Amino acid sequence: MAGLSISGIFSSPKKSVLGIDIGASAIKIVQIAKKGGVAVLETYGELALGPYGEEVVGRSVQLPVETLAEALRNLLRESSVTTNSCALAIPLSASLVSLVELPDIDKSQLAQMIPLEARKYIPVPISEVSLDWWIVPKEQVDDQVKKISIEDDQRKAVTMARKKADPILPSGKVDVLIVAIHNAALHTYQDIVTRAGLRTKFFEIEIFSAVRSVLEHGIAPVLVLDMGAASTKLYLVESGVVRDSHLVSRGSQDITNALAKALGITPSEAETIKRGEGLNYQVNGESIAKVVPMNLEYILSEANQIIAKYQKKFSKVVTHAVLIGGGVLLPGFVEFAKEMLSVDVLAGNPFGKLDAPAFLGDMLKKTGPEFAVAVGVALRLLQEDVP
Ligand SMILES: Nc1ncnc2c1ncn2[C@@H]1O[C@H](COP(=O)(O)OP(=O)(O)OP(=O)(O)O)[C@@H](O)[C@H]1O
Ligand SMILES: [Mg+2]
Repeated sequence: MAGLSISGIFSSPKKSVLGIDIGASAIKIVQIAKKGGVAVLETYGELALGPYGEEVVGRSVQLPVETLAEALRNLLRESSVTTNSCALAIPLSASLVSLVELPDIDKSQLAQMIPLEARKYIPVPISEVSLDWWIVPKEQVDDQVKKISIEDDQRKAVTMARKKADPILPSGKVDVLIVAIHNAALHTYQDIVTRAGLRTKFFEIEIFSAVRSVLEHGIAPVLVLDMGAASTKLYLVESGVVRDSHLVSRGSQDITNALAKALGITPSEAETIKRGEGLNYQVNGESIAKVVPMNLEYILSEANQIIAKYQKKFSKVVTHAVLIGGGVLLPGFVEFAKEMLSVDVLAGNPFGKLDAPAFLGDMLKKTGPEFAVAVGVALRLLQEDVP
């Protein structure tokens, strides 16, 4: 567990808020507060879920609500969290996001039209989801989404719906982002946080949290690559608006598995090598990059395809890729991605949006990509200033 309390470093700010990211393999939390108009980092922490499900650290696990609540409680304690006011990121896999083109009509008329329109994109009864929607401003957009949703097996339909979105709008039309979260998933997450003694102010799909914390307000198209344990998420973002999202079913645990198999070692030993030396690890004078890259290459070639398709379709240049998620902390990965990807590559630096003691700078920069979602959801909670 990585946990660090730095609250004592600053005189106590007025109100602290907590951003929570319950991933498939680890929970990440970030507590921030506003001081002198600036978002200040108070504490953050991360807890691997594998051991709660009799698995190794770094592996994704399915856990019952009570176990997740217990893990969250442990993390809150270890990280010396002092607030119970939180917001939670919802996984892309539990969400439905559709960007649809609708007539530029009165808001109240749109409100009537959207539940009907949503039926086309949401392959479950509308009564089973919580819907929200947002008119995408023609210019910069930040907080596009309030709530989120969809189920795993509906992902295909969702991806198809997403593909219909077109950033080049004819006149008399507006882009409307329709988001939904399955009520059952909402209740599950609500249950977890309540059992951990927290009050949830809102839920937000992780995409929007990540975009907020790692992207600047540029308009050029950017690719965000979030490598988790079992899967990798790829988002194409233009003018702050998510235009496309894909889920690739390969992640960092596949690298651990490949290493364990190739070297005849346990998954736990492989995880240690992966985190320690990563792609710089040598076997018989050969870099491990010869053993594990299949999974990495697969993920990065998917990313290249998404970039190429977008560039061709809209005649625009994707300027760079931002890497986030625990998987990209693999030593040597950023360099590897720079070689493989057709665009420039940057590691996400969400803590860069927060004020933090200078002596933590290097560590926060290094571990930052892992906390992109948690920082992003905390930033929105701070912005909304909910009492
Ligand atoms: N320092 C590190 N070096 C290499 N790999 C790492 C490092 N830290 C974490 N990982 C790997 O990153 C993966 C977890 O990443 P992350 O915490 O972003 O996933 P998650 O949020 O739980 O998953 P998802 O987003 O898919 O739900 C694990 O497989 C873990 O082994
Ligand atoms: Mg994650």
